Amino acid sequence: MPDFGGRVALVTGAGSGIGRAAALLFAESGARVVVSDIDETSGAETVERVRAAGGEAIFARADISQAADVEAMVESAVREFGRLDFAYNNAGIGNDAHPLAEMPEELFDRAVAVMLKGVYLCMKYEIPRILEQERGAIVNAASGAGLIGFPGQCGYVASKHGVIGLTKTAALDYAKTGLRINAICPGTARTGIVEEWTGGDAEREAEIAGYHPIGRIADPREIAEAVLWLCSDAASFVLGHAMVVDGGYTTQ
Ligand SMILES: NC(=O)c1ccc[n+]([C@@H]2O[C@H](COP(=O)([O-])OP(=O)(O)OC[C@H]3O[C@@H](n4cnc5c(N)ncnc54)[C@H](O)[C@@H]3O)[C@@H](O)[C@H]2O)c1
Repeated sequence: MPDFGGRVALVTGAGSGIGRAAALLFAESGARVVVSDIDETSGAETVERVRAAGGEAIFARADISQAADVEAMVESAVREFGRLDFAYNNAGIGNDAHPLAEMPEELFDRAVAVMLKGVYLCMKYEIPRILEQERGAIVNAASGAGLIGFPGQCGYVASKHGVIGLTKTAALDYAKTGLRINAICPGTARTGIVEEWTGGDAEREAEIAGYHPIGRIADPREIAEAVLWLCSDAASFVLGHAMVVDGGYTTQ
């Protein structure tokens, strides 16, 4: 576990799933945490859980597809805690599956607006604040679906491939500044998005687990552990990397 005492971490989509697990883990490591989500109720619950575990957190509501929300989110981090060191740009949405020609344009647009433009907007406002510190790190949520295709998910897959390109480019833009930018490519983790696919059906979950050579899906904390490692000094020479944490899913 890294020691992030005195430092500040912002997590988007922290009301649920991997984002919540990351917020809790950042707090365990000693960081003060800005919990952000479009959903106030679930975000407030994450803040409660961080505080119950002895950590320090505030909630900042933001729809990351809206520039004004994102700017206000970053500014509230700096106003409340005085600095920003780490950001995990994690918020994402599931999509109904349709072959490309049948994908409703508004679903495609929404996927790109949240999961690609949203990551761009987050970095746009986070980077100047993180650069005020000597060193810092950003991790962007891509996916196994950022490396390979996935039938019926053109908007999701295109966004996640895009996140990797965005990450590599931003990493190079700021390579010499002490800010390291990387991405993470999770396999399936047990979260809200996955419950939407399975409808809570154990057989369907077992089928999805079977696609992963490791023979199971992940606990969200297993993904969050990799996010924290990428932010830590142990990863001081890791830059522009899309780290696969997928139980072997994309290895087949
Ligand atoms: N769970 C998986 O198997 C898996 C696999 C690969 C990648 N991912 C990626 O990991 C990230 C987190 O996914 P998860 O599975 O924890 O999902 P989740 O549904 O549990 O959590 C996503 C959170 O994002 C929030 N959110 C949605 N739209 C938002 C918006 N416009 N602005 C701000 N917040 C918004 C939701 O309210 C929710 O709290 C996503 O980017 C997802 O694509 C997940």
